Amino acid sequence: TTLTWTELCAADAVGDGAHKAFFIGTKRLCAVNHGGVFHVVDDLCTHGVAYLSDGYLDTDECVLECPLHGGLFSYHDGCPKGDPAEKPVRSYETRIVDGVVMVAL
Ligand code: FES
Repeated sequence: TTLTWTELCAADAVGDGAHKAFFIGTKRLCAVNHGGVFHVVDDLCTHGVAYLSDGYLDTDECVLECPLHGGLFSYHDGCPKGDPAEKPVRSYETRIVDGVVMVAL
């Protein structure tokens, strides 16, 4: 499949150690800035209806904690890292071009 690089946000729109939701069209994504490197996953939890951007970000373990039941997901690859999370959230390649975070959809 061909990846389409799409603008997500300005690189300074998310501080180091912070996470935030962004929309591309109707697609809701969670962007994490960890040490100036951006990681992007689908924002909707795979266990229920909750947004990872509303939960806790743990940059020591590199996981997002779902605010509803505490499921953990790696923000590197979207893999489940703690119950009750079982199915991964989709993760996306990112790059920064001229101060803009680009995401490969
Ligand atoms: Fe996210 Fe249940 S809705 S862990």
